[in-house]
Amino acid sequence: MSPHADPLHHKRVWWKEATFYQIYPASFKDSNGDGWGDIPGILQKIDYIASIGVDVVWLSPMFDSPQIDMGYDVSDYEAVYAPYGCVEDVEKLIEACHKNHMKLILDLVINHTSDQHAWFKESRGSKDNPKRDWYFWRPARYDKQGNRMPPTNYRSYFAGGTWTWDEHTQEYYLHLYDTTQPDLNWENEDCRQAIYNSAMRFWLDKGIDGFRIDTVNKYSKVLPLIDAPVTDPTNDIQPAAQMWCNGPRIHEFIKEINRDVLSKYRTYDGQPVVTVGELSLCSDAESVIPYVSALEKELDMVFQFDITHLGQGPPGCNDKYDFAEWKLPEMKRIVEKWQCFIEGTDAWTTVFNENHDNGRSISRYANDAPEWREKSAKMLAIWLIGQTGSLFLYQGQEIGMINIPKEWGMEEYKDVESQNYWAEAVRLAEDGTDPTRKERIGYGLQLMARDHSRLPFQWDGSINGGFSTGKPWMRAHDNYKSINAASQEKDADSVLSFYKRMLRLRKEHKDIFVYGTFELLDPDNLNTFVFRKRYQEKTALVVLNFTTTPQLMSGTEEMKLLVSSQSKKIPGTLQPFEGRIYINYEV
Ligand code: GLC
Ligand code: CA
Repeated sequence: MSPHADPLHHKRVWWKEATFYQIYPASFKDSNGDGWGDIPGILQKIDYIASIGVDVVWLSPMFDSPQIDMGYDVSDYEAVYAPYGCVEDVEKLIEACHKNHMKLILDLVINHTSDQHAWFKESRGSKDNPKRDWYFWRPARYDKQGNRMPPTNYRSYFAGGTWTWDEHTQEYYLHLYDTTQPDLNWENEDCRQAIYNSAMRFWLDKGIDGFRIDTVNKYSKVLPLIDAPVTDPTNDIQPAAQMWCNGPRIHEFIKEINRDVLSKYRTYDGQPVVTVGELSLCSDAESVIPYVSALEKELDMVFQFDITHLGQGPPGCNDKYDFAEWKLPEMKRIVEKWQCFIEGTDAWTTVFNENHDNGRSISRYANDAPEWREKSAKMLAIWLIGQTGSLFLYQGQEIGMINIPKEWGMEEYKDVESQNYWAEAVRLAEDGTDPTRKERIGYGLQLMARDHSRLPFQWDGSINGGFSTGKPWMRAHDNYKSINAASQEKDADSVLSFYKRMLRLRKEHKDIFVYGTFELLDPDNLNTFVFRKRYQEKTALVVLNFTTTPQLMSGTEEMKLLVSSQSKKIPGTLQPFEGRIYINYEV
């Protein structure tokens, strides 16, 4: 028997049944008209958040930061970015969440800091600075002509290389992301202890209930740092994720985080604190299990990203935004894989299809044209609530927000990744290396850029969708008059009202939806997505139409209709973008 087998069949724990709601602070609610969302703004909306029926708020980074990567470049873990507020505001938010029976988790960004962090400033001060070894510094290489070359050939996540030359100390430093995001050296014990104290204990002591852990499998690099194999001969930098994803000491580091820090804390209501890790490039279930098996005492759960990678090239390579058509069976296989991998084990999984790094789910997986948008949103809601695991929603998903309009120019895309990929595409098209690249990458960005989810939240029909009375840091979507929370709150038939109902339904039927086993039916059908859930003698059938045409369905005759996403129901036929759930038991 595998050491991860679970005789208890998924022991019940609070965070397995919880619905999480991600808030992107820059874009949620601006309380003072400076164009940036802020923590007082979140506090104003706490009743709204609680009314959705979520259990945990995940707040994306609100730490002090130069905002090159929107707060994922932290310059001080113990301070709040001034436009967002101050530490006291976060303390108020912790209290307000708890008063409303919600927990609060923060983002833990500890693979790298900003180059403006005091640790890095010291480290770059001199070669013999005590913090020199807290980051990765390496001497240059030289080619035959004596030209200076970076220490290795790695390609970074944001286009460009992973090494930046430091004039002052005449060495390069490593950064997997932007040049302003130097990687911390986890091999250094003092560095790890400083991370635990400053980024973790500081906030746990203030009463937060856990963390979403950024880039959780990248802390252990393959040492010594040597060139990655050349897989893209047209380029002098190479995809190199195998040099830092799931490295040799990664499980040891995560176990240490858990044992020395997290296990010493409880949530406000006395439960173990929760962790969810961002796990990139880990596509076989066997290597995901050790991160999330209860026995291993590492993480409670992770985000595995096959679903958001649909249509993309692999991350860290230059065709991430070179969109490739995909068909429904591919998506079904992905869902099946990450639903089923925990079965018979003590591991756990997550359910999500949006976050701050992806296009909106309606635009990516269904249809965002005005006639299909709402129907798509409700069908996708059924898709999510029917799945096993902890459920994560992203702000605006509950009102059916969609991607940036196609007419907007690239100047409206503010993200460093989008801008770098776009600049690369323009360069490679114009120098003749890849003449059609601009059109292709432009299209990919219109569908999948991280910017789409970062547009201001649409509160009402007033200027900027009620997000801000000033000039928002990102332009508000043109459609805020027709898509906004205020009008949907009043409408029993709205996407928002539907989400609220669905989240309640998921809880009422948690045996089958949260804890049930998953079986994919009719896998090759190009139009419908049908799956069966089971829990002991209970069965549920989830049937979803992912097309704009009616689809026949069968096998539901003996079952009871629990819910449909549309009011007009035709027996034996799913309307375009209709979702239904049938059950075989009495409620
Ligand atoms: C994670 C974040 C992303 C950020 C990156 C670097 O992937 O989700 O937004 O750019 O880490 O910290
Ligand atoms: Ca503000």
